[in-house]
Amino acid sequence: MVIAVDGPAASGKGTLARKLAAHYGFAYLDTGSLYRAVGHAVTSAGHDPADEMAALAAARNLDLSKIDERAIRTAEAGAAASIVAAMPPVRAAILDLQRNFAHNPPNGLRGAVLDGRDIGTVVCPDAKAKLFVTARPEIRARRRWLELNNSGSGITEAQVLEDIRERDRRDAERAASPMKPADDAHLLDTSDLSIEAAFGAAVAIIDKALG
Ligand code: C5P
Repeated sequence: MVIAVDGPAASGKGTLARKLAAHYGFAYLDTGSLYRAVGHAVTSAGHDPADEMAALAAARNLDLSKIDERAIRTAEAGAAASIVAAMPPVRAAILDLQRNFAHNPPNGLRGAVLDGRDIGTVVCPDAKAKLFVTARPEIRARRRWLELNNSGSGITEAQVLEDIRERDRRDAERAASPMKPADDAHLLDTSDLSIEAAFGAAVAIIDKALG
């Protein structure tokens, strides 16, 4: 039983997906953290994120248990992630890992929630329920800026908005698994919703989809 939650940066999909996993008793995988970990591994080793050989080597060596959660949450890691994520060999290298998690959730759990950009279209096209979570770019920039500022980053809100627009463009326009809603995905715009209201709307959609 797989629930796919896709959408752009800071749309609220991660918070929603985590809450949905707890609600249904499913395992949770934040697939963006995989691309972030690859981007971070490449840049912290002194390579350009556009260096495909370095990115592929990092993707092949990716170890879920060794991801440094703090290091991958920076704006730089997010930008590097969207560069390495446009490389088909990098995506191929971590596709099996994602599918394996979805079809054999850890700890004997009976389902999984995966969030990302291409879960409903490419990673798990047969997912029982698919959500595509969006929010206006200005709202997303405000949320991400607050998050980054809480962790002590000096970045401005205008810079975060610019980064988000650039990342949206790169994610939506790339040839390999571009970010887009699956034909059978339910759209959920969280711009004017509290976390609780968005969660309630998501559960209503998913309960119906799971029957
Ligand atoms: O979701 P998050 O912002 O952490 O994702 C970081 C980057 O990883 C995205 O901008 C996108 O380029 C990439 N990504 C992807 N496919 C996914 C998840 C994330 O291409 N399934």
